[in-house]
Amino acid sequence: MNRNNLVSISDISKDEILQLLRQTQYFEQNPNHKILDGRVVATLFFEPSTRTRLSFETAVNRLGGRVIGFSDASTTSSSKGETLKDTIKMVSNYVDLIIMRHYLEGAARYATEVTDTPIINAGDGANQHPSQTMLDLYSIYKTQGRLENLNITLVGDLKYGRTVHSLLMAMQYFSPTFRFVACNELQMPQEYKAFCDEKGIRYTEHTDFSEEVINTSDIIYMTRVQRERFTDIMEYERVKNLYNLHNSMLDRSRDNLRILHPLPRVTEIALDVDDNPKAYYFQQAQNGLYARQALICRALGIEVPEAANDMNA
Ligand code: CP
Repeated sequence: MNRNNLVSISDISKDEILQLLRQTQYFEQNPNHKILDGRVVATLFFEPSTRTRLSFETAVNRLGGRVIGFSDASTTSSSKGETLKDTIKMVSNYVDLIIMRHYLEGAARYATEVTDTPIINAGDGANQHPSQTMLDLYSIYKTQGRLENLNITLVGDLKYGRTVHSLLMAMQYFSPTFRFVACNELQMPQEYKAFCDEKGIRYTEHTDFSEEVINTSDIIYMTRVQRERFTDIMEYERVKNLYNLHNSMLDRSRDNLRILHPLPRVTEIALDVDDNPKAYYFQQAQNGLYARQALICRALGIEVPEAANDMNA
């Protein structure tokens, strides 16, 4: 197994997270640093994506490497019945790094067991999305000037939302106070609440997206209710529109509040929020390019300069 794999955010320590954030800042300042000459990277997307795949591929291109891969598994031999194991072993013959998204939880971990080529998990079912977490942490740091002691409100699909699961785990190092806002059907799973209890992370649970919660938040992290995760479409219909953020709801929010969302959004953030200076989700997605440049270099064992800053927490 390659020790540069990134399957879960828990694969990297606090020190390494902070180093990656400094490297992310370096790439924001120097996005065209050509250090991947001769390297080939595969992006294997068994599930749809816009931002993750395109930002990873842009990252490789801007670093001077080359990309192969697919965005639609139905055009590959997996549609003829080829197993994930065989697909990974074949692609490993061709490339230096595999970046993969799969609809099954644990698929990326499984891939690490069948190849020595480094694997980056670009999302596995409702489990983990560690590269999203690195860009989320960078976005939080950039907008708040720190990662420590923030009130972070997670809203929407906390049951199936892999981005909130990864972010929650990464924030264990930074003394957050979480508010989990979700309907009964989409509450934060017990295993993540147990993780908070074990790590001493403060959290409260709410079914109401109240003024009090909004006005005391530093970060509001909205999420989409993901139709693709539901086996009962009637249940999806019941819960899909319960939490919607409108501009008027931000009137008495903190000056430093920023609205994050991993995107894509559907209806959970009204279009009238987009012009509010507290809306940060499009810049957040842009930060993904720089964060993923740092992660690609980590996976390939390539040394990267670090921006000089006070990012110690
Ligand atoms: N945030 C995110 O994972 O977006 P995509 O599904 O478009 O990659």
